[in-house]
Parts: sequence; C-alpha cells; structure tokens
Amino acid sequence: MLTLVPKEIEKYAVENSQSHGKILQDLVDETSKKSDAAIMISGPTVGNFLSMLVYLTNAKRVLEIGTFVGYSTLMMAKSLPFDGEIITCDIDENSTAVAKKYWDKDLSGKLIKLKLGKALETMEKLEPGFDLIFIDADKKNYPQYYEKSLSLLSEKGIIIIDNVLWSGKVINPTDEDSKIIDDLNKKINSDIRVNNVLLTIRDGLMLIRKN
Ligand SMILES: C[S@@+](CC[C@H](N)C(=O)[O-])C[C@H]1O[C@@H](n2cnc3c(N)ncnc32)[C@H](O)[C@@H]1O
Repeated sequence: MLTLVPKEIEKYAVENSQSHGKILQDLVDETSKKSDAAIMISGPTVGNFLSMLVYLTNAKRVLEIGTFVGYSTLMMAKSLPFDGEIITCDIDENSTAVAKKYWDKDLSGKLIKLKLGKALETMEKLEPGFDLIFIDADKKNYPQYYEKSLSLLSEKGIIIIDNVLWSGKVINPTDEDSKIIDDLNKKINSDIRVNNVLLTIRDGLMLIRKN
C-alpha cells in the first residue's frame, strides 16, 4: 500500500476505520495476486474518505477519471442515494472487466456507468452538473482534467485529485510527471476561481471547491 506516513500508523488507521467489506477485500486480493499494478488501488483510507465526502455533500452525480479495477468507484457508489449515479472513465478493457465482475456482486454497483475510452474525449460529451469529481488517471493530462472538471462541476460541487504529493517527489520535481503535478498544485492554489486544501492522506489529495 502506497503511503507517506509510517506503515504501522497507516495500518492502525485502517484497522480503526470502517471496513471496506468482503467484496472489496476479495477485489484487492485478486488484483494483488495478478500483478504489481495493485498499488494503483487507492485503498481503504482514501476509499473511506471519498465515500464520506459523497455522503456529506449529498452528492447525486459523481464522475471518476481513472477506474482501474473499480475499488474507489464502488466505495463512492456505496454512499450514493438509490437514484444517484457514478460515471467512471478508463481506457483499459481488462482491468475494468475485473471491476464489473465485483460491482455486480454489490447492489450499489447498479449505480455505476463505465465509459471506456480516453477520459478527455468522454468528458467532452458529458452534461455538466456533477456534485463530486475524483481525478485519478494519467498524470500528464491532470491539468486538462482539472480545467474540464471545473466546467462540469455543479455550483456546490467538489473536485478531489489523487497523488498530488507523488511519493514526495513534488518537493524537488525532476521528472516530467512530478513537474506537471507540482505546477498544477501551484496553479490551483493561486487560482482565484477556487478554494483548496492539500491533504496529506496517503499519496496526497487535493480537495477543491468553486468560489
Ligand atoms: C491509479 S488508476 C485508478 C485507480 C482507481 N481510481 C482506484 O482508486 O482504485 C489509474 C487508471 O487510469 C487509467 N487511464 C490512464 N490513462 C487514461 C486516459 N487517457 N483516459 C482514461 N483512463 C486512463 C488507467 O488505465 C488506470 O486504470
């Protein structure tokens, strides 16, 4: 599990938080057995936090950029009302096939709509009015995802961007992804259109609302 806090502290926090349940544990186990890519799963702390945000904001329409095996998708779907929906975007048919298998095991999985294809192209076709948008895909497109998300957000909506600390590499960015993320963090923080807080949860979460 990717974390910037000491592993035993993260373990204690997870043990003393709401359990993600058997379905999501089976999903994590299957993904971990198959490949090292399991590290891309946001995990229980971020998942519970997203789920809590969906609940606290009374979100009805949620958009996710970056599905992978659908862990964060299902965590958020669990807090949606019965007439809510979550649209989730990914380019990978294989990982999202695993996602669908596990969504089908949970009633709230019925609220999930997968859009296969490049997220930027999918976002162009969406109606605005999303209450919560979670950005967690390819880092090179993060600046475009941010701009497009602002235009798709409802008046009181929030955006959450994952991996904004990029394993701490944003402190002294040398590679391309680190520079993109660092530039975006600074852009958001000086953007007069929004109010933001960078949280040191796992690999860093930027929480944003419109002014
Ligand atoms: C970090 S994973 C998402 C993890 C997931 N949100 C979770 O927390 O469990 C990032 C995903 O973004 C997807 N991705 C990469 N480039 C993309 C693009 N241009 N459009 C849509 N999805 C993309 C990858 O296929 C990958 O599944």
